[in-house]
Amino acid sequence: MKINTAEFIISNSDVSKCPLERLPEYAFIGRSNVGKSSLINMLTNHKSLAKTSGRPGKTQLINHFKINNNWFLVDLPGYGYARVSKKTKEVFQQFITDYFEKREQLVCAFVLIDIRHEAQEIDLEFITYLGEIELPFCIIFTKADKISKGKVAQHIAGYRTALLKNNWEEMPQHFVTSATEGTGKDKVLEYIAGVNEEIFKSNDSFI
Ligand code: GTP
Ligand code: MG
Repeated sequence: MKINTAEFIISNSDVSKCPLERLPEYAFIGRSNVGKSSLINMLTNHKSLAKTSGRPGKTQLINHFKINNNWFLVDLPGYGYARVSKKTKEVFQQFITDYFEKREQLVCAFVLIDIRHEAQEIDLEFITYLGEIELPFCIIFTKADKISKGKVAQHIAGYRTALLKNNWEEMPQHFVTSATEGTGKDKVLEYIAGVNEEIFKSNDSFI
């Protein structure tokens, strides 16, 4: 899929204030600093459409970006960021779970996982949560430029084992990406194009 337009629409912390349009949307979630905002920039060919930072905790709100005028990418704050106060953390979590549980336009979550690390409890917990609320999701491994291809394969195998132990029957759909090198861009965009096509064909409530 070719990206012709990508525009920032709105940031907020209240799901009821998200865009009212009935367009399919794809949310990027994962630990702080995993590369959610960088991946959105990479996919849309922009340097700073979504704000990025070397310090965790940069994205603090729900950010809607309208793509090709007919679907949305959504950048979210990271989970598991220890430096925000407990109170802020609770508010974060509440509006993030509100978003996941109430946003009807949300058709797929991309759970981003830093490929450099072994399976982390917080990611496995979040994936279990998505299973519980029955939201379709894919895993996107990030920062693949930082380790060798052999290690990438080894870490994915580790995740497969951890997910099977957590009662998943198979490894979910997953992609390996690097925002700095553009790895995985075509595959992620083709996946989104396929889901959009199915939705526009079969679901009258969208457009
Ligand atoms: P929060 O908004 O704080 O939750 O973080 P985020 O998940 O949006 O991460 P962000 O995109 O801001 O990136 C965090 C840091 O990782 C930045 O310094 C990026 O330059 C770096 N980074 C992101 N993706 C990649 C990648 O694929 N490769 C490399 N080498 N660095 C990356
Ligand atoms: Mg961010």
